[in-house]
Amino acid sequence: MRIGILTGGGDCPGLNPAIRGFVLSAVSRGHEIFGFLNGWSGMAEGVYRKITIPDVEDIVIHGGTMLGTGRFNPFKKGKEADLQRVLDNIKRFELDAVVALGGEDTLGVAHRLFDEHGIPTVGVPKTMDNDLAATDFTFGFDSAVSVATDCIDRLRDTAKSHNRVMVVEVMGRHAGWVALYAGISGGADWITLPEVDLDLDEICAHLLKVRARGKNFSIVVASEGTVLPKVDDAPRELDNFGHEILGERRVGETLAREIEHRTQIETRFAVLGHVVRGGAPSVFDRVLASRLGVKAAELVENREFGKMSALQGNRIVAVDLKEAVASLKTVPLELYAEVKGLFAY
Ligand code: F6P
Repeated sequence: MRIGILTGGGDCPGLNPAIRGFVLSAVSRGHEIFGFLNGWSGMAEGVYRKITIPDVEDIVIHGGTMLGTGRFNPFKKGKEADLQRVLDNIKRFELDAVVALGGEDTLGVAHRLFDEHGIPTVGVPKTMDNDLAATDFTFGFDSAVSVATDCIDRLRDTAKSHNRVMVVEVMGRHAGWVALYAGISGGADWITLPEVDLDLDEICAHLLKVRARGKNFSIVVASEGTVLPKVDDAPRELDNFGHEILGERRVGETLAREIEHRTQIETRFAVLGHVVRGGAPSVFDRVLASRLGVKAAELVENREFGKMSALQGNRIVAVDLKEAVASLKTVPLELYAEVKGLFAY
């Protein structure tokens, strides 16, 4: 078979191990692999490189993606010619299958290509946000949370030395998984998520209580998607998939200002941003991504299209792409309630 592969959306650690898992499996079954560069734009422009085993043998430890990525959306309204170019190139390169590694947006395109145009697609779930449905975890998340935790450990030293509150803003879009996990593992004094109504009175009362007990510093982990009334009424720029650029909302900065004003405790903020998307993948992500890549090769071999490899429990299974992109996997309120005792005590 002639198989096209691409990575789309934000990069994250684990993409290279997943590509490696897929390529090793598919090439040893006798298939030919065409790596399209920079996401769906590579497929629209016909920009590719042939991928063979030596190309992937040594990439399991590397962050980023050897194929490049981007947020090009062939289904963007008013850009019908882009979709046609993608369809034409799939025909021109005589591709028997297209494998897309991505999150909600990239896999949404893979799903629509399959569903509306009969293109034989297979998906592999990645995103540091961990917000993709039908899989327990996406690779990129564990690595991002590990880096965020390391940053919080460092910020704790400086917060402690200066008797300050430190607000740490992390990415994660409209799901608070990164903030929740980094906050728990970093021993945060409060965690704010997009899923949970923000109560500044409650947060500030808790920070004052912590201080009154004798702890001279506090860490607040804030998800970039936290809903802050003052920040949320301004119109903002959207990306190609119609998402707001959430980092521009300055959630960490706004929260820090408000906390300092209300508690009179000196407060600083740090925005971890893209730092947590770089570096070597964690062990968990290397193993998960490799297994998901191998499963994707099996799906192609068996011509099980319109599917995505996924983690359920400890098993790698096939799920419908439709199910994966139907809704965002956000943090359940019961989970937040379960762990709230770790900071709101
Ligand atoms: O979806 C991954 C993510 O890192 C989000 O957490 C974040 O909001 C967004 O991508 C940032 O996108 P970009 O890399 O385009 O700035």
